[in-house]
Amino acid sequence: MVKKAQDAKIKYGEENVIDVTLGALCTEDGRLTIFDSVSEVYKNLGNMDIAPYAESFIGDRDFLKEMKSWVLGQYEYKFINVGALATPGGSGSVSSTFKNILDPGQTVLIPNIGWVSYKIMAIEHDLKVETYELFDENDEFNIKDFKEKATRIMKAQGKVLSVINDPCHNPTGYSMSNSQWKDIVDLMNDLSKDGNFVLLNDIAYIDYSVRGYNESRKYMENFIDLSPKNLVIFSFSCSKTLTEYGLRVGGSVFISNEKKNIDEYMTANEFTCRGIWSNIPKGGMKLFSKIQSDKILKDKLIEERDSYIKLLEKRSKIFLEEAREVGLEVYPYKEGFFITLKMESEKIKENLEKLNKENIYPIEVAHGIRIAICGSSVKKLKGLAKKIKNIIS
Ligand SMILES: Cc1ncc(COP(=O)(O)O)c(C=O)c1O
Repeated sequence: MVKKAQDAKIKYGEENVIDVTLGALCTEDGRLTIFDSVSEVYKNLGNMDIAPYAESFIGDRDFLKEMKSWVLGQYEYKFINVGALATPGGSGSVSSTFKNILDPGQTVLIPNIGWVSYKIMAIEHDLKVETYELFDENDEFNIKDFKEKATRIMKAQGKVLSVINDPCHNPTGYSMSNSQWKDIVDLMNDLSKDGNFVLLNDIAYIDYSVRGYNESRKYMENFIDLSPKNLVIFSFSCSKTLTEYGLRVGGSVFISNEKKNIDEYMTANEFTCRGIWSNIPKGGMKLFSKIQSDKILKDKLIEERDSYIKLLEKRSKIFLEEAREVGLEVYPYKEGFFITLKMESEKIKENLEKLNKENIYPIEVAHGIRIAICGSSVKKLKGLAKKIKNIIS
């Protein structure tokens, strides 16, 4: 679809095409957002900050320390056992978790609407996929279906690995409440009588939450009461947090109330790091740790990122208010990069064709059509919901 949109722009002119495919943060004039507060620091790194191998296969000490602290925020010292390793982006964290928690042939539980790479990674590691319905009839997290699927998997394989992409879910922009998270932890603890429950919390977009740093991490307090059988792995991405997609830096931060779980998971990952990607780019790790450990640099980055959070809020309001006015159905967006139109699966292809004919290019996702507000200007989004409604009705 990205290529189709580009071809249309060449043929009909940029101003006559509405391209809402681009899944990366962009400025109002359509350029990829690159935070000055980040690139200035990168440009000033020394050769020895970039050229050598990392200190260790699991990452540089400073990076691991700063990542743990940034990810866990006010809860860093509330968790008894914490582990961390650097991975090639958030992708490396998700993929290594799939590989190291499950054996080939076992089943991973993922949302029915979600980042398409989860399925690809499962195939790569010879895993089966089960999906839970993300939303119930009230457009809230479907704890009932999550429970049903997790219980069935626990019975069948004596272990559950489940992915929850929250906050700022890709592609709906949904975020759960603290009490919904409490229900999930209660369920994990309940099921742990029959085996280990491992939760992969994909937090790739956490730093774009409109609730701010402390509030966006408030749900983590629920994990303090995790059963010792359980493990929570946070998949963190510098691609989004620093807008440095190409540096390929991210990591896993993992917590458990049983030290053995941390040690075993770390040992398995040490093999993965060495056996698959060797080590993570030193310059990218240095960039993150340098900014995070310096109050002035960190505040500058936070201020710059905040301006984009406000911009995303503005873009989302324009689209959502219009969608409400014209009765265009969307999934419950709260914050983040994407809004997704609700649609019966059989209608998606047909509606996409109709939209393409009118030079509107969004992306097909499971159970809907994704509008990437991260890559679309306010100007482009004004009037778009109404146009879409008219075309697909
Ligand atoms: C939901 C989600 N998780 C994780 C990632 C990982 O990104 P990266 O590997 O660039 O850090 C992405 C990237 O698009 C994503 O959308």
